[in-house]
Amino acid sequence: MTISIQPIDPVSRPFFGGKVSGIDITRPLTPEQASAIEKGMDQYGVLVFHDQHFEDETQLTFSRNFGELEEASGDLNWGKARRIASAHVNDISNLDNDNQVMARDNRRRLFSLGNRLWHSDSSFKAVPAKFSLLSARLIPSAGGNTEFADMRAGYDTLDDETKAEIEDLVCEHSQLYSRSLLGFSDFTDEDRIRFKPVLQRLVRRHPSTGRKSLFLASHAGAIVGWPVPEARALLRDLIEHATQRKFVYAHEWKQWDLVMWDNRATMHRARPFDAKEVRDMHRTTVACERSTMAEAA
Ligand code: OGA
Ligand code: MN
Repeated sequence: MTISIQPIDPVSRPFFGGKVSGIDITRPLTPEQASAIEKGMDQYGVLVFHDQHFEDETQLTFSRNFGELEEASGDLNWGKARRIASAHVNDISNLDNDNQVMARDNRRRLFSLGNRLWHSDSSFKAVPAKFSLLSARLIPSAGGNTEFADMRAGYDTLDDETKAEIEDLVCEHSQLYSRSLLGFSDFTDEDRIRFKPVLQRLVRRHPSTGRKSLFLASHAGAIVGWPVPEARALLRDLIEHATQRKFVYAHEWKQWDLVMWDNRATMHRARPFDAKEVRDMHRTTVACERSTMAEAA
């Protein structure tokens, strides 16, 4: 069995979104397999593995091939009782701790609707996410796609004037900003301290490919040295530019799909589904080695 990675849509997106076959990721990887996946990630930004039937322990072991894992500390209920045992697994479900679909007005559910806005995982942490790995344990009968935008294409297609203007800009990212866009402001004083803004460069250079990309997220709410409304207007324009349909791959989930994406080169968002149905996804997250501020240096 040899690993093979092919573009999902060779005609319209030959370099964004790849489908991996010829690998059983429930078994330990050889160094060659791990490096083939890293190379695939560098090329495609998003990789899809179908029929990967496993539990959290296997997902954790597979994910650790690509670096240190971050804790799920961006969760609203971090530090409280959780549905999922491992602190390194993010609960991307609409289930409460008794495995019941959360009520429409459940605070944790409303907070999680932030995933419907374009973002890069953990851009609100000083050291943001490298790879995210999302496993579909149970999916609704319709809807609930995840969309991915190619932020390298978003950067490459800016005009030279804009590229020059944004080259050295630094943004403030916080979950307080992204949630305020949705009108969610039900934060405790403790949440406000935990979610205090962090700095991220707006233009990043990928450490392996050397390609530049826009490092944006709905968590970005300010640009250092800029008046806030002007900063937010620019950030909106850039997100609008980078998420044109021609730069977007929409993943239609099948149960037991594993989708892996590079948060340094992509943004993503969840799409809606019937709130009475179960959608149970588990995410592991590989951390970057350093902050984007340190990358610049
Ligand atoms: C995530 C995320 C989107 C989705 O897991 O980080 O944003 O479709 N998920 O659930
Ligand atoms: Mn996410």
